[in-house]
Amino acid sequence: MSRTKKETIQSVKGMRDIFGEILNYHQYIEKKAREIASFYGFLEIETPVVEKAELFIKSEEQGNPVVEKEMYSFRTKGGDFLALRPDNTPSIIRAYFENGFQGWPQPVLLSYGGLFYRHESPQQGRYREFRQFGLEILGETKSFADAFIIYVFCNILKDLGFKNFIVHLNSLGDKTCQKQHRRELVSFLRRKKNYLCAECKKRAKTNPLKFFDCKNPKCQELKSQAPLIINYLCDECKSHFKETVEILDELSIPYYLDSTLVRGLDYYSRTVFEIFSKEAEPNLALSLCGGGRYDYLAKMLGFKDLAGIGGAFGQERIAELMKSKGLSRELVMKEKPRIFFAQIGESARKKALVLLEELRNEKIGAIHGIFKDNLRNQLKIAGELQIPYAIIFGQKELIDKMIMVRDMKTGGQENIPQEKMVEYFKEKLGIRN
Ligand code: HAM
Repeated sequence: MSRTKKETIQSVKGMRDIFGEILNYHQYIEKKAREIASFYGFLEIETPVVEKAELFIKSEEQGNPVVEKEMYSFRTKGGDFLALRPDNTPSIIRAYFENGFQGWPQPVLLSYGGLFYRHESPQQGRYREFRQFGLEILGETKSFADAFIIYVFCNILKDLGFKNFIVHLNSLGDKTCQKQHRRELVSFLRRKKNYLCAECKKRAKTNPLKFFDCKNPKCQELKSQAPLIINYLCDECKSHFKETVEILDELSIPYYLDSTLVRGLDYYSRTVFEIFSKEAEPNLALSLCGGGRYDYLAKMLGFKDLAGIGGAFGQERIAELMKSKGLSRELVMKEKPRIFFAQIGESARKKALVLLEELRNEKIGAIHGIFKDNLRNQLKIAGELQIPYAIIFGQKELIDKMIMVRDMKTGGQENIPQEKMVEYFKEKLGIRN
């Protein structure tokens, strides 16, 4: 269909441009998460955004909406069936085997960040293109790994300024427990079929566990009567869960045993978790982070057996909450340039580049108005960006080998010799190196 003259091209529904203050939050979150993950021994990995669609199809049970409706998939001219990744866990397993990580000392701890794509209904905190930061431990069956993953995510949230969060925790058991539970659940859902929503009627045949994830009020009401997987755990799964909870107790992690937590993706066994913030408004109480154990996933994908536990947090949800509640605002803003370099006149413009380079070499963040001529306009930009100091550099300063520094809050100005500029700002901005 051809566009009418007036229509302009806009971004794709559920995908947005990110800039300004919210981008500062994203960058701060990424930096902090990377630092903490690296401290705890996670090796960073980047996997492609596009994978064979089969990788994600095989990772889910038939009837899972993430695969059925939400995956962006396409056929290439060469006939390959590819997809934009909806999540990274299947790709991490592929990368583990493809790159020979099984020959490394086990377990292998990996971290990643990047863009993910799901064709969901967009709303606040739910987008079609979104960012995740994830952690995975591969080749470890012990419950310590489950608690460790949760612990590291909680440390990231704490460092970002979250004080009031809670880990929802459940166990989905292993294949044996799941089989028995599924039988009971299917029979329960059959008995209650007249009260179920249309979607859950279908799910009862294909993916009954998803009933616990249903937001329909009628189905929600039935949840309390439904057989819960936690009551069907075998002795091994029971002790794995008990050990995980005991470690979390010792680490003083706030948790809530949520026996209806099943997760949106299907590849989980044993521990599953989601982290919520009490800082969020109740109507926006979306999970900030989610994950669990996936000991069967490698086999589902056609690889050898491989135990795994991991999780990922949604950067948009965290960034938006941090911004609206002002969490770590000072620290986030500190990452912003704190000097605006304003210059006037052609000769000053050239020398301004030399002075800017001196600041850059000393890692002192500064931005400039090098393409502007008017001082007032440049200072206006500095004010709008809430930059604390402006350097004013014109013909007089050029001849006198000085710079003029304006404190943007008080309006006070002082003249500083050019050779003292770096020293002056290091002291003003508290930069030590
Ligand atoms: P997930 O729960 O689907 O798990 O996603 C993890 C987090 O990503 C969610 O808690 C949420 O914060 C964010 N998220 C998910 N969908 C959206 C969306 N449409 N818009 C914005 N944010 C979103 C996974 O993806 C698993 N791969 C996690 C994992 C790693 N499990 C084991 N290892």
